[in-house]
Amino acid sequence: MSDLHKFPVIPVIVLDDANDAEPLAEALLAGGLNIIEVTFRTAAAAESIERIAKAFPEMQVGAGTVVTPEQAKRAIDAGSKFGLAPGTDPETIAYFKQQGVPFIPGIMTPSDIQAAVKAGCTSLKFFPAGAAGGPKLLKAMAAPYANLGIKFCPTGGVTLDNMNDYLSLPEVFAIGGTWLATKAQIQAKEWGTITQQVKDALAKASA
Ligand code: 3PG
Repeated sequence: MSDLHKFPVIPVIVLDDANDAEPLAEALLAGGLNIIEVTFRTAAAAESIERIAKAFPEMQVGAGTVVTPEQAKRAIDAGSKFGLAPGTDPETIAYFKQQGVPFIPGIMTPSDIQAAVKAGCTSLKFFPAGAAGGPKLLKAMAAPYANLGIKFCPTGGVTLDNMNDYLSLPEVFAIGGTWLATKAQIQAKEWGTITQQVKDALAKASA
C-alpha cells in the first residue's frame, strides 16, 4: 500500500474502448503520472487494464469501482496492482486481501470507516467528497480515528481548484478525479490536453 501513497493524484478513468488504453496511459506518463485507476464502469475495463499492464510495466495500473468479488477476480487476473471502490463490501475486501493486492474501499460515514477498519483496511476512499461536505467533513470525521493511522483519498467533486484543500490535510494521501482525463476527452483522443491537465495537477500538488 505504501507504494500507492507515493502519488498525490489518481486519475479516475472511464474507458469505453480498450483501444484507447495504451494512448491514454502514454498521455498520463508523458505528464509525469505513473498511476491510473481504470473503473469497472464499462465492459472495456478488464481488457484495458490488461493492455496497460502489458505495455507499460512502469505504470501502477489499478481497478476502480470494484464492487463484487467477481469483479475483483477479473481485475486482479487482468493485472491490477490495486483496487478501489466507492463503498465498503467485506467480501470484496476479503478477496483482495486473500490475493495480497492492496484495496481501498470507499467510506462516507463513521460507520463506514469502522466497517472498513474492522475488515483490515487503513487506506480509504472518501466518496463523494464534495457532495458529502468536503475537507471540513473529512477533518471532523477522521478526528476520532487519528490513533489508527487511517489515510484517505477523497474523490467526487475534486478539481484543480480545490485539490489542495484536501491535500493539505495530514490524513489525506492523495486525491482522485475524472477531470484529469474525462470520458469526452478520451473519446475525442485529446491526449495532449490530458497530458497538460496531469502536469498542471502535479505542479499544483507539489506547490
Ligand atoms: C470516483 O469514483 O472517484 C468519482 O467518480 C470521481 O468523481 P468526479 O467525476 O467528480 O471526479
